[in-house]
Amino acid sequence: MSLYSRITGTGSYLPPRRLSNADLAAQLARDGVETSDEWIIERTGIRARHFADPGVGASDLAVQAARGALVASGRSAADIDLIIVATSTPDMVFPSTASMVQHKLGIAGCPAFDVQAVCTGFVYALTVADAMVRTGSARCALVIGAEVFSRILDFKDRTTCVLFGDGAGAVVLESAEQPGVLATDIHADGKHRDILCVPGHVAGGAVTGHPLLRMDGQAVFKLAVGVLEQTARTTLARAGLSEGDVDWLIPHQANIRIMQSTARKLKLPEGKVVVTVDSHGNTSAASIPLALDVAVRDGRVQRGQLLMLEGVGGGFTWGSVLLRY
Ligand code: ACO
Repeated sequence: MSLYSRITGTGSYLPPRRLSNADLAAQLARDGVETSDEWIIERTGIRARHFADPGVGASDLAVQAARGALVASGRSAADIDLIIVATSTPDMVFPSTASMVQHKLGIAGCPAFDVQAVCTGFVYALTVADAMVRTGSARCALVIGAEVFSRILDFKDRTTCVLFGDGAGAVVLESAEQPGVLATDIHADGKHRDILCVPGHVAGGAVTGHPLLRMDGQAVFKLAVGVLEQTARTTLARAGLSEGDVDWLIPHQANIRIMQSTARKLKLPEGKVVVTVDSHGNTSAASIPLALDVAVRDGRVQRGQLLMLEGVGGGFTWGSVLLRY
């Protein structure tokens, strides 16, 4: 039995339809909703996002990202013995998006399930996959974050609809003699469930409640910066390492100001933070593996480097994974 899990390949996918802030502002203006490129960039750092076309689901984006990760790891779909998809925008109420991904990859039999922790979803999924690989329940896992947040945005609410985008990121996580994942830390506190939610559900064949995203942005901001610092310090302490050892901070891409503030608290220079929020917007559970894949493919992230992945989101949930790439 191996003692460790290690990422052997990464992949990502963005749907082709890209909307700059100006494109989105023009679309919103047609419905009398006012915003501007300047406001969005100044408050969030976002310049553009991608939206999936109607009929394209989270599983479609996830499969593309998974294929990229499989190629990068030198594995084929037949090698996969576990699939975990982190998503808050599944294709259906059930079955899981992971089951659909499994079928679209042309494989069957291995366990496949979704994890729902909103923007912390990928950190949760990687934590679960790491535990399963370390205990021998799986040897070669696909861990995916995939979202079509455009489906749950209220395009009449300018305080939220400018923030999010669609996309997917994936990693292949394999058993290994050497780490790999060094430490994980995940949390939730349901008393904050109302500050970021989609308070609707399906009952009796109809949607009840409000099936679109609602957020108290300032409350989220305040909570986020505190817990992101805390969880990073926890995983570093568990691994016997310090902030100075971190080569790359790859945070959930919610807002450039949250990322800058976290980096400052951890005394990490901004040059060590991987930022994709400018071109992707907030893709929730997909944002961390998307940012990781971008930084691997452009050569910033190198084998042997120490990566701090950390997320925060609805629930309220938060957590981090410290790993040697
Ligand atoms: N375009 C133009 N003006 C806007 C827009 C917009 N899209 N949205 C809000 N405004 C206006 C408001 O109406 C308000 O106007 P007023 O002063 O005349 O009333 C003004 O801008 C300021 O609004 P605030 O909500 O106070 O703006 P704030 O500086 O708090 O920024 C933001 C809002 C960006 C959401 C901020 O609170 C934030 O970054 N929060 C963190 C939450 C976050 O990033 N969430 C992402 C999802 S959560 C997650 O992933 C963890």
